[in-house]
Amino acid sequence: METRNSKRLFIAGHRGMAGSAILRRFKDSDFELLYADRDELDLCDAGQVDQYFSAHRPDGVILAAAKVGGIFANEQSPVDFLTDNVLMATHVINAAFRHSVRRLLYLGSSCIYPRDSEQPIQENSLLSAPLEKTNEAYALAKIIGLKLCQAYRSQHGVQFHSVMPTNLYGAGDNYHRENSHVLPGLLRRFHEAKVAGAESVVIWGTGTARREFLHVDDLADAVCFVFGLADPPEWVNVGTGNDLTILALAHLIADVVGYQGEIQIDPSRPDGAPAKRLDMTLLHQLGWKHRIELEDGLKMTYRSFLQELDSDALRES
Ligand SMILES: NC(=O)c1ccc[n+]([C@@H]2O[C@H](COP(=O)([O-])OP(=O)(O)OC[C@H]3O[C@@H](n4cnc5c(N)ncnc54)[C@H](OP(=O)(O)O)[C@@H]3O)[C@@H](O)[C@H]2O)c1
Repeated sequence: METRNSKRLFIAGHRGMAGSAILRRFKDSDFELLYADRDELDLCDAGQVDQYFSAHRPDGVILAAAKVGGIFANEQSPVDFLTDNVLMATHVINAAFRHSVRRLLYLGSSCIYPRDSEQPIQENSLLSAPLEKTNEAYALAKIIGLKLCQAYRSQHGVQFHSVMPTNLYGAGDNYHRENSHVLPGLLRRFHEAKVAGAESVVIWGTGTARREFLHVDDLADAVCFVFGLADPPEWVNVGTGNDLTILALAHLIADVVGYQGEIQIDPSRPDGAPAKRLDMTLLHQLGWKHRIELEDGLKMTYRSFLQELDSDALRES
């Protein structure tokens, strides 16, 4: 059976930032969409996952569920990041195969690549050198997901494959004061500094680390594109191919938010990897390119941040 034409698509992690964007992107497709909240389906519980597949019989799966967080959260709880992410990936991927799913797309992350990868980072740099220490546990778990998909494809001929997104941002992001990623963390802090009339905002690290950011609606579009390919690559980078320093990002966010105070750095805090820019050659050659440039994406994200704040729906977990 060609699952490109299949009917039921299970989106795991549909309430998260990426999963909800993917759900929106597939709403008008021919698929019947399947999803379940965590209180009815805990993906860390193998029995529940098996039961869900048995009851709902999906034809295709997009795995966007994970335990996700910034440097602080990763450093505080490496056990949780390693265990939960390995369990979710192995349970869902194994159950998919057992229940005759022929097509599964797994969301990994650009942090699977070595810390000192040559820039821009090509797909084939995977496992060529040591990982960045601050999120090693998470990265190892993500590599296991990718490798399990690759193994199923090679051993059983099913189309299980992966995408490796760069840093994402957009509606539904996590604005927790300590556990958030750098972009939502800065957006919130500049907003609060503006409201409080603060004279300065201190950003973590030296400000010199370089990062790439992709709007989550572009990610959802890329997922839809790759999921529709007849012969997808085993894994493919998804980003813009452009990066900037954290200090430049901070200035851009301050402009979008309208914060006019000073921006200071705190070099005693970790920077993480010095640079992380994805080589986008493969996905560009296949025919997909991002559409939302960073400044426009930040304006959209600040608008959704304000709406989420106003409606008491700002996510802090
Ligand atoms: N955010 C980024 O910058 C980024 C960058 C690269 C790759 N990615 C990848 O993209 C994927 C999604 O990330 P995201 O930013 O959308 O994360 P997110 O917003 O935190 O969403 C994660 C989702 O996973 C669900 N989940 C976590 N543990 C679960 C469990 N035990 N059982 C059932 N559901 C569970 C969460 O459910 P609840 O809603 O119940 O919490 C949530 O819906 C991940 O694979 C991540 O590695 C993200």
